[in-house]
Amino acid sequence: MDRQRLHTLEVISSGSLYKPRGRLIWGDNFEVMRALLDEGYGGRFKLIYIDPPFGTETHFKRRITTGSERLTIKQIAYSDRWSGRIDRYLDMLYPRLELMRELLRDDGVIFVHCDWRTGAYIRVLMDDIFGRRNFLNEIIWHYGGRGAKAVSGQFPRNHDTILVFGRTRKASLKKVFMERRIPVGEAGRYGYRMDGDGRYFKTSPRGDYTEESIKRLEKEGRIYRTRTGRVRIKYFIEKRGDMLIDRKLVGDVWDDIPDCMHNPPLERTAYGTQKPEALLVRIIEAGSEETDLVGDFFSGSGTTACVAERLGRRWIVCEKGQTGIYVTRGRLMKIDHHPFTLERPEGEWRNTPSRDVTSRVTIEGPSITPAGNGSVEVSITLKDYRLLRLPGGVSMKDPSRLFDMAGRDFTVLVESWSVDWDYDGRVFRGRSHSIKEGPDSSIDTTMSSVLEAKKRTIAVHVVDIFGNRTGVEICLPG
Ligand SMILES: C[S@@+](CC[C@H](N)C(=O)[O-])C[C@H]1O[C@@H](n2cnc3c(N)ncnc32)[C@H](O)[C@@H]1O
Repeated sequence: MDRQRLHTLEVISSGSLYKPRGRLIWGDNFEVMRALLDEGYGGRFKLIYIDPPFGTETHFKRRITTGSERLTIKQIAYSDRWSGRIDRYLDMLYPRLELMRELLRDDGVIFVHCDWRTGAYIRVLMDDIFGRRNFLNEIIWHYGGRGAKAVSGQFPRNHDTILVFGRTRKASLKKVFMERRIPVGEAGRYGYRMDGDGRYFKTSPRGDYTEESIKRLEKEGRIYRTRTGRVRIKYFIEKRGDMLIDRKLVGDVWDDIPDCMHNPPLERTAYGTQKPEALLVRIIEAGSEETDLVGDFFSGSGTTACVAERLGRRWIVCEKGQTGIYVTRGRLMKIDHHPFTLERPEGEWRNTPSRDVTSRVTIEGPSITPAGNGSVEVSITLKDYRLLRLPGGVSMKDPSRLFDMAGRDFTVLVESWSVDWDYDGRVFRGRSHSIKEGPDSSIDTTMSSVLEAKKRTIAVHVVDIFGNRTGVEICLPG
């Protein structure tokens, strides 16, 4: 079978010229992982997290909200249909897990997120591919009550399972602690007392401490005697200002991270199966160090990429669907990010800027004014964005409402737009960007830059709320 190479469609930076640190790859992960192996990525990933479809037999959608009227539109994000055949699902997953194993470092770890539908089957695949001796954990993520709806005739199903395996026995996870903050005034309620030095402590029975150990602890001031003279061991708690910080070692049941429905609004992307950033923070912190390479090959709305970026990891993520790719691109652009690339397998990239034209962009300008020292200030205005018809996979009650709204204010259709001030005809390097912060927030429609006065091509890319990208090129005379 022909090997695919990855082609860079776009380098997204906020002006900086640093080397891209993250790679967002749009394509089937099987081809993408093979291409990465060809590039020499075998044995280079410290951590891989995947959250593959769960075999739900449904289509997952993303809810798009736009304009001051907060019009709601649904768009198919991906299909999770297997004709009821778990064997088809497992046939898809098995070779992909094998490639992930090849990509991992010897001390690398993989986290596979699943639920009651596929968890038991995936555990068997993992044992087979990674080896039972490399099993590290089965984490129960108890995401809290989704309530009575799921209850009829059974206990409510309110946890997912995350299987963790090492590539070899060299792999290990760091200890993670959970902090609970207790106001000093409530110390007693949580079983804490204060000693003569103003330190707060809890006690526990002496257990099997020897007399010798007790003597040592006595010297350290860690022995507490009850009124009846029984020996107990003191455990001090850290005090920060008016708070006591109760640290608890995190075990394999995680019940302190709510699901996405309870996420802060700014984190929610309305991508059907988005996972909370707090979950990925815990995973990435436990399994990798800063600058390590982290991967996610079913990356959906890009939670792993965003968290890895924030935690200073290098990252490569892959997603098959256009919706997930452009949600991820937008999420990353809204955080403080290093430059990253958007790539596609070579055979597919030519079709990427939609051949099937569904939109039209109108640009005003460029307007050029001398800026001294052989430079000019160039300004470009986004004048109009027209949607010729609704893209496939999009459904809404009354499409004419969207077209009416867009007729009054075309920016309701625009998610972001970017300018490459010196386009090389191959890779779009957006240096100026304007992105909508929220569904009804506005977008700057003019961008400018001071440039050396020379003949050049300026390229403009507009990404609409459905994740369609339309480009325009403008030639600037010297
Ligand atoms: C459960 S979602 C992942 C959600 C993600 N964890 C998040 O926080 O948004 C699974 C994703 O895998 C993608 N996917 C399914 N098959 C794929 C494949 N063969 N290659 C790449 N992506 C795939 C789907 O499009 C979907 O977005």
